[in-house]
Amino acid sequence: QESTHIYTKEEVSSHTSPETGIWVTLGSEVFDVTEFVDLHPGGPSKLMLAAGGPLEPFWALYAVHNQSHVRELLAQYKIGELNPEDKVAPTVETSDPYADDPVRHPALKVNSQCPFNAEPPPELLTENYITPNPIFFTRNHLPVPNVDPDTYRLHVVGAPGGQSLSLSLDDLHKFPKYEITVTLQCAGNRRSEMTQVKEVKGLEWRTGAISTARWGGARLCDVLAQAGHQLCETEAHVCFEGLDSDPTGTAYGASIPLARAMDPEAEVLLAYEMNGQPLPRDHGFPVRVVVPGVVGARHVKWLGRVSVQPEESYSHWQRRDYKGFSPSVDWDTVNFDSAPSIQELPVQSAITEPQDGETVESGEVTIKGYAWSGGGRAVIRVDVSLDGGLTWQVAELDGEEQRPRKAWAWRLWQLQVPVPAGQKELNIVCKAVDDGYNVQPDTVAPIWNLRGVLSNAWHRVHVHVAP
Ligand code: HEM
Ligand code: MTE
Repeated sequence: QESTHIYTKEEVSSHTSPETGIWVTLGSEVFDVTEFVDLHPGGPSKLMLAAGGPLEPFWALYAVHNQSHVRELLAQYKIGELNPEDKVAPTVETSDPYADDPVRHPALKVNSQCPFNAEPPPELLTENYITPNPIFFTRNHLPVPNVDPDTYRLHVVGAPGGQSLSLSLDDLHKFPKYEITVTLQCAGNRRSEMTQVKEVKGLEWRTGAISTARWGGARLCDVLAQAGHQLCETEAHVCFEGLDSDPTGTAYGASIPLARAMDPEAEVLLAYEMNGQPLPRDHGFPVRVVVPGVVGARHVKWLGRVSVQPEESYSHWQRRDYKGFSPSVDWDTVNFDSAPSIQELPVQSAITEPQDGETVESGEVTIKGYAWSGGGRAVIRVDVSLDGGLTWQVAELDGEEQRPRKAWAWRLWQLQVPVPAGQKELNIVCKAVDDGYNVQPDTVAPIWNLRGVLSNAWHRVHVHVAP
């Protein structure tokens, strides 16, 4: 009788390429799926995301695997078992402010571990119209606070003559509940393309600093009204403070104009649910602001305090970051007070499949991606070119119908086209148009800015065609 091979997690994790063999685990079993990768019905690139590690976190997202025929198929590739003594308990270093951060999904492409910043890989980003919570992009500036839902209070500073509120989660649930689908995009999405023009300061986001969820919660306008606030003639701003803070005790903060906050049509939420679940810790448990159509930076997570002020938030992230400048402005000449804070974002689109540098089959190619615009402006069209922008074809838009002026969520799109005969490579380009007929700029250089924000030039992907 053959004895079972025992492997360590380390050995498994070193098998991630056709040369070494491609191994995965399920429970305590180890599989060599090298031969199966190209046969995977979900495509080789998706399977490869799990190479060298456990399948569970991926199969939890794609329940299609929860069938006996899938298990039987996998069983054919079994090569052994995991070493049972290999369960290394993670050592908790208590002086590390990040030690208490939550466990993250292995599919996320990490741009920075502490604070945690990560994006879903392109091939998963447009797999679902609603981004599954575990792979929703994460943009943290500080350690994730650990908030006790039982003692949590949201402080809302009252208007003169009104009353300040200290709301428990239960109190918040008593306001009428609204549910809306909203796409969140970081101002730094696609920054890595700006870096190629000239160096910028910031995380190297690719195309994945954008995701879509169905958010549930109370309307900010209802909560503000209970505290006695009304729309006023003079300019005013609603300032938000997070419960995350730096070593000096300074909290993350941001603000939006009171006019937007009080407008029921703007549908600003104090969200306690994300895709039908309580907010995950990384996304602001137990309460975050959701400001449809507005840059991610204003969607303050772990919300602790709301106040109405005559001026914008004095937070660094409101006044000294998340602003756009001319390409001629550098760090010696920049005057942050001279530019408005980013609120609504410009029209955006990107290609998620195929990816840059990939080889596609001759015959037919399927091109996929997303498109979105800020301020509730609907995407009305996505144009795709295979020849670097000389000729164009119109892609098919998928996803939910959009409400006029309230198109808060992206459209996924795709185009199936024959590969022109004899073509050895393709320069695929996409560009979107919103209902204000706003378009994306064709190149990055003229919109380059020192902070690398608002990167929305035509997205370009160069691929080879298999002979
Ligand atoms: C579909 C097997 C890993 C994503 C399938 C199907 C099988 C399969 C048999 C077709 C199921 C059916 O339609 O009845 C496997 C095996 C894997 C693996 C044996 C590992 C060795 C992964 C991973 C991901 C993934 C890691 C995601 C990151 C998908 C998706 C589909 C699929 C999205 C649906 C494709 C479609 O219908 O368009 N897989 N899978 N798979 N798989 Fe996997
Ligand atoms: N709120 C707090 N309290 N702390 C933060 O670091 N990051 C902001 C915003 N809200 C942040 C925050 C930024 S820049 C973005 S893009 C979004 O949260 C990202 O939200 P997500 O991590 O849920 O995707």
